[in-house]
Amino acid sequence: MNRRTFIKTTSLAGIATTLLPDAHLTSQIAHRKSPLVINTWDYKRIVPETAYNTIVAGGSVIDAVEQAVRIPETDPEITSVGIGGYPDRDGNVTLDASIMDGEGNCGSVMFLEHISHPISVARKVMEKTEHVYLAGEGAMQFALENGFTKEDFLSPAAQKAYQEWLQQSNYKRAKTDEGNHDTIGLIAMDTNGNMAGACSTSGLAWKIRGRVGDSPIIGAGLYVDNEVGAATATGIGEAVVKVCGSFLIVELMRQGKSPQEACQLALERILHKQPKYKSDEGFLVGFCAFNKDGKYGGMSYKKGFEYSVYTDGKYEVVKAESLVK
Ligand code: GLY
Repeated sequence: MNRRTFIKTTSLAGIATTLLPDAHLTSQIAHRKSPLVINTWDYKRIVPETAYNTIVAGGSVIDAVEQAVRIPETDPEITSVGIGGYPDRDGNVTLDASIMDGEGNCGSVMFLEHISHPISVARKVMEKTEHVYLAGEGAMQFALENGFTKEDFLSPAAQKAYQEWLQQSNYKRAKTDEGNHDTIGLIAMDTNGNMAGACSTSGLAWKIRGRVGDSPIIGAGLYVDNEVGAATATGIGEAVVKVCGSFLIVELMRQGKSPQEACQLALERILHKQPKYKSDEGFLVGFCAFNKDGKYGGMSYKKGFEYSVYTDGKYEVVKAESLVK
């Protein structure tokens, strides 16, 4: 199923209210003999494998997550990340990205234009400045000052989709329409328990110019803490921001919840605080997370979300549990 089309094929039938069993608890043994890499969706084996192999080759976990996320950022076939991203309603591709390590170091860019690797700019923000967030023109200026090149990118597919959308310019549905969201969030842990995460997106298609989602917001689209674990998000960023979704999941794991339970509780929190999303046909949020013992989990609001796992030299795409059956 295409990541951008699955929403319309799912129904809004009832929401499970009881906690689901942790599907992975029994099949996973806590270990750190091998790196562990998890990313939202199936962005092809090469993405988590790049992170895994970077660590195995002796690279740092922050190098690993950056190198992996750079791959979809320059894949023109991916319409929700990087250079292939669908534009805002004025026809501009604007990018958001964040990166974080398990010691609390982090950097982020948002509303960034004309730079093909926002994740690498985010890393420069983290490592070369005292700041966490850079936005818009200032983020682009910083990127250019740090050796990045200004490019124009609106892929032929994105251009075509935009021209079709312009026929109706349906602003009202733009926030939650199917196909308007999809983010790579990737979290990794090396064999010493050092963690990092990276998150990158072009955000909602046809968004209002200047809109920023959850992906560059530390604690919303991404959160990492070596003492506990890591979490990342995909879907409608506004919903994730409203509950600080990834931070919430890490804090729930700190309190003893499994990654699977924590992802479910964060989704339930969104629906509890914002019940309007239950009747929003285009609504989707998905989370995935791991804890420091190497247990992992993932869950989405509706069926169709999947996440990729790479550990022990093996790649697996897991179909996530969903609140709506
Ligand atoms: N989750 C990506 C966004 O809402 O922008």
